[in-house]
This record gives sequence, C-alpha cells and structure tokens, in this order.
Amino acid sequence: MNVDNVHYRSIWINSDGWSVDIIDQTRLPHVFTINNLQTLQDASSAIKEMLVRGAPLIGATAAYGYYLALRQDPSDTGMDNAYQQLFATRPTAVNLRWALDRMQARVSPLKAADRALAAFTEAGEIADQDVVSNQSIGQHGLELIREITAHKKPGDPVNILTHCNAGWLATVDWGTATAPIYMAHDAGIAVHVWVDETRPRNQGASLTAWELGHHGVPHSLIVDNAGGHLMQHGLVDLCLVGSDRTTRNGDVCNKIGTYLKALAAKHNQVPFYVCLPSSTIDWTIGNGISEVPIEQRDTNEVAKIVGKLDDGEIAAVNIAPEKTNIVNYAFDITPAELVTGLITERAIVTADEAGLASLSSEAQ
Ligand code: MRU
Repeated sequence: MNVDNVHYRSIWINSDGWSVDIIDQTRLPHVFTINNLQTLQDASSAIKEMLVRGAPLIGATAAYGYYLALRQDPSDTGMDNAYQQLFATRPTAVNLRWALDRMQARVSPLKAADRALAAFTEAGEIADQDVVSNQSIGQHGLELIREITAHKKPGDPVNILTHCNAGWLATVDWGTATAPIYMAHDAGIAVHVWVDETRPRNQGASLTAWELGHHGVPHSLIVDNAGGHLMQHGLVDLCLVGSDRTTRNGDVCNKIGTYLKALAAKHNQVPFYVCLPSSTIDWTIGNGISEVPIEQRDTNEVAKIVGKLDDGEIAAVNIAPEKTNIVNYAFDITPAELVTGLITERAIVTADEAGLASLSSEAQ
C-alpha cells in the first residue's frame, strides 16, 4: 500500500539483489525506517524484537531468514539450525511453522550447492502468494461491505471496527482485515474505520491508524473499551479482525481483547468476521481454548507507554506504581460460536469444522 504516495510492501529484496529490506515497525508512527537483513541472526532478531510482526509477515520473514541462513551454511546442519532458531522467535503465529516447513520441504531434497537459490525463490513465492491471498480476502470481504452499503442511506459510510493491526504492515501487502476496507475505499464506497488503540503495545494507534491515514481511509482512533458502547448505539456495522492462529474447529486466536469485541458484537447483533489466509489455520488443533498456548510478554509493555514527547523525543513513560504486580497476556481465543464467518482467500466459510473442511484439501 502507499506511504506518501509511494507503493511499499512490508518486506522486499534490496536493490543489491540478495539482501532483504523491512520496515522497522517499532519506530512507527513517528519514524519511517527501512532496515536491511543480511543474516539468519538479523531475521531472527527482527521477528523476536517485533520490528516485523503480524502472522503472515512473520511467516514471510522467517522464509527469507531461512534463505539468508542457507547463503552462509547450506549443509543439513545449517538448515536445521536455521529452522530451530527461527521457530523459537515467536510462539503464537502458526504461519511461522507453516513457512519454515514449506521452506524445508522445498530445499532439503536438493544438493547443498543448490539450496540457497531454491530458498530465495521459495521465499519470494511465499511473499507473492501472501499478496494474492490478501487480495482475494479483500474481494470476498468487499462483497460483504457492498451488501451493507445497499441498506444504508446514500453517502452514509459503512462503519467498520478493527482490533490491533491486521493491516498491510502485518502481511506482505493489503493486510487481512484491512484488504476489504482498502478495496471498498478504492472502489469509491464510503467507509469509516473505528481503530482500537490495542493496549498494551498500541498497534492500532501506531500502525493501523498510520497505514489507513497514508492510504486516505477515513478512520477514528478509539480506546479499547469504547467498542461495546459504539455497538450498542448502532455505530458499528461490521467488525473485521485478523488472526494469529485459527484452529480447525474455528476458534480464533488473536490479539488480546478480540474476544471482548466478539462478545459485544454478538450481544448487539453486529456481524463479526475474521480475515485470514489458510496459512493461519492450525489443522493440528481442534480446540483453541484448551490447546493454544497463550503467550505472556514482558510486563514493561503494560507498565510503560511509548510515545513522542512535545520536543520530538521518543520516550517510554511509566504509568503504574513501581513494583506493581503485572500480568501481560498477549492473545486470547474467540470461540467459534461468536464468529459470524471466516473470510479466507478461497471463500467465506462458517467458523466450524465443516466450514474449514470445505476449503480444499490443498489448504490443509
Ligand atoms: O503482537 P503482534 O503485534 O504480533 O500481534 C499480532 C497481530 O498482529 C494481530 O493479532 C493481528 O490482528 C493478526 S495478524 C494479521
């Protein structure tokens, strides 16, 4: 999508033809910085330190990290080390495992000398495929938005609530939850997005608001607790969120707070859709609530807020008494019964085993 009218992906090959460029998301929205990845270590740190984040982008970065590792050591041991190091970077997004398995399956049958080039090609295909998937998710979601517009007064915007950042920054391009929004906006349909700030790291405030603003999509930033009130007063027509892992029974693991939005949506009869590529489906798990481990992150994310001071300095300030006990769950599970539908690249399906099984066997 666009940044100051220039089209960017969130990850791409540098003009040197071999190294990999990313946008450092830890510095947004205040500073737009491009970082260059040249080694396995660079890619692992970028994922671990959350310079890149979002399930599909984590997968794509891991794929490129695997390729960078094989440039240095294409032996069986090098391959295994790369897999293990990258796999250990983040625990929740299942796209990480999906991408690494795909890379390993592609290159391991080859002679060591041929592996790096094959890995380069495969990582590029993973990235390109993510863009195509998101475009397809966008087309399916666009139809939902069109249906809602048909019941609105001419010119009245469709109000869409989103949580966290499932935008183009969380993918290679377009985003998952934002793809239908960008497509509707580009098609001239009036949309307005309620952007949850998304404590503790505020990905909504720092990333979603930033990217929507750069693309010219009307939006309003709200505190996380405002969604229920807005839905109760008829101010939300549709919720669109992303997912870090969706289990085969349709339970959705996503950024902490998603579950509360789904509860409020159900109570207020607001359609609640989850947008995801099939690489985010964990076919090995049949119950998200009991089986998906929930990551607990650094308590400093809760104790501090990072922002720009009036003099331009970026600083972290404490918001809690020193030594307060803090617990920081990073994700939650929205049970399938609260999900109106799953918007995948293949189709919109019901959030249950039958719906997911209806996706082709290739997806599994
Ligand atoms: O902790 P993060 O920033 O990696 O959070 C994950 C996410 O980006 C979200 O949960 C997102 O909504 C789903 S990924 C498209």
